[in-house]
Amino acid sequence: MNLLIINGPNLNLLGKREPSVYGSESFDDYLNKLVGEYTDDAISYYQSNNEGDIIDKLHEVGFDIDGIIINAGAYTHTSLAIADAISAIKSPVIEVHISNVHKREAFRHNSYLSAVCQGVIAGFGLDSYRLAIEALKRSK
Ligand code: DQA
Repeated sequence: MNLLIINGPNLNLLGKREPSVYGSESFDDYLNKLVGEYTDDAISYYQSNNEGDIIDKLHEVGFDIDGIIINAGAYTHTSLAIADAISAIKSPVIEVHISNVHKREAFRHNSYLSAVCQGVIAGFGLDSYRLAIEALKRSK
């Protein structure tokens, strides 16, 4: 399958950012392992700290690609515009979170994206991304 992982704001700092919440592994290291595990699939990666860039990327790939895995970071809890972009495209989208957002502050409990995504995976550390790939592969 042709899959894209999109990471939103502050997720470029994985490995350095609040390691007690998000772990100490960089996303590049994790992604290398993932790509090595799924050699029959094409897994590409995009990260941006900017809402509009994430929307542009969804528009660009979202009519052709087999699946999108998105961790929109804090935009999850604020962005109707990213939710509308997900509604507008055709490819299935899975929302992921590294932390279990429901165990955390109340403002992290609401997601504008969940209702427009195929499903949500949260709380399994970086393995949340692999679980999302498995979900997309099983539902194709
Ligand atoms: C996050 C959870 C969000 O609440 C937070 O703003 C993030 C990361 C997660 O992966 O656990 O940036 O999406």
